Parts: sequence; C-alpha cells; structure tokens
Amino acid sequence: MKEVKAEVIAVEAVAQDFVRIIFAAPEITASSKPGQFIHINCGGSVYSLMPRPISIHRVDKDRLTILLQITGEGTRWLSLRQPGDIVSFFGPLGNGFPLPKQGPVCLVAGGIGIAPLVYLADVLQKEQIPFQFLFGARDKSGLALLGDLEERGIPVRIATEDGSVGQRGFVTTLLAGENPEMIYSCGPEPMLRAVAQWGKEQGVPTELSLEARMACGVGACRGCVTKVKKGESIAYENVCSTGPVFNGNEVVFDD
Ligand code: FES
Repeated sequence: MKEVKAEVIAVEAVAQDFVRIIFAAPEITASSKPGQFIHINCGGSVYSLMPRPISIHRVDKDRLTILLQITGEGTRWLSLRQPGDIVSFFGPLGNGFPLPKQGPVCLVAGGIGIAPLVYLADVLQKEQIPFQFLFGARDKSGLALLGDLEERGIPVRIATEDGSVGQRGFVTTLLAGENPEMIYSCGPEPMLRAVAQWGKEQGVPTELSLEARMACGVGACRGCVTKVKKGESIAYENVCSTGPVFNGNEVVFDD
C-alpha cells in the first residue's frame, strides 16, 4: 500500500450524481486487482475530513478509474476536480476477489455496486473465463452506469425494479436462468443477502464485496467490523483489511 499523489486525467459525467474520474497512478495499477479499493482524500474541509473508500473501477496500463456517486460534500469536491489537478490517496487496499479456476461465473451488480465488478469483468475477459454480467437498477436511468460493457462484448442481462428495461424485478431474479460455478456480487445489502441465500440453496460459492464506513482503512481503528461465521463461532472482521470481499457462506446479515 502506498500514498500516491495522482494527476487527474479526466472527469466524465456519467449520470445525475455519478462521475467517472481517471487518474494517472502507475504505483497502484502495477499491483492492484479487482475488488480492491483506494482510500481517497476528499478535500479536507470540516465536512469531509476523512478520506473515503472507493472501489477501483477500471485499470488500463497506468490509468486508474473510479466511478463516484456524489453523496455529500467530500464526493462533490472530488467530482469538481479538473484535469491536471493532483489528488492524494492510499492503495491498493483490501483483499480483492479470488479469481475462479473455471467458468462460467456470474457477476451480480446493483446500482453503484457495478464499480468493482467492471474491473473483474475486464480481467475475466482477458483470462478467457466465461461469465455473465447481471445488472440491476431502479429504472432505466441507472443503465448509464453500464458504460461501454456491451460495446466491449461483455454479456449483460438487466433487471429494473419498474420494468422499464430488461426483466421487471430485482437483479437476483435473473439468477434463476443461470448455472454458474461461482458468483461475485456487489451492491445494496438486501441484494447481497439474496445472492448469498441463492448460492447456499444451489450449492454455488458466493463472494460478496461489502461496504462499510471507514476511518483508517488499514485495520487499525476497528471502526468497520462485520460479523462472519467461523465454524461454530462468530468473529468480527475488518471490512477494510480482511475484506471487503467475504465468502457469502460466512457473512452474517443482521435481521
Ligand atoms: Fe479502521 Fe477498518 S477502517 S479498521
């Protein structure tokens, strides 16, 4: 893990309240893998003192891309950066997704949860491991987050809650038509819970990328713990340093 002062190469509006930011960050792209994140400085004003954990969205040679949802002062500050600005962050952090030995596998994304799974899709495509991308959004406006997946020949099936595009309902309903060796998922907690449940019922391993509020980002403050099952006992693991990716059979979802 390194602290990097990275130059902003481009800031692209993706949809309302979503931007894509491309940095030159060779120190990070040389060693990062899908599912890892960066802990990024958000301007340091009184409203945004703490850095934010943001998934690595894409890596292309020395270019690192994040997909950012503007949710407050700090993320708005980031979204207003201009090409040539310098932003500091730490990374790559976290464990990342374990790659499958064979396919087919399913990538299940809900909303902004698409961010780390696009990086995984790029790697699977390069490794020639067959996969299906399942994406869920509230309505068709969410499809802007898909970016150029389809242009790159990445197979995507879509579900929207209002039925405006693809199948009506939650993205997990699309799993019924699949027969994967493994599932990777990132998105809202109810979706992750449904994915883990489907995996358990079908005997399919699941790898879930969890979200948590983070302070230090490196396992020092214990501010990001999540409950996991270890054999017969329950352990509290740091999402930042042990995760953010956990075996879906082990994650304990609170009722
Ligand atoms: Fe400090 Fe995870 S954010 S331990």
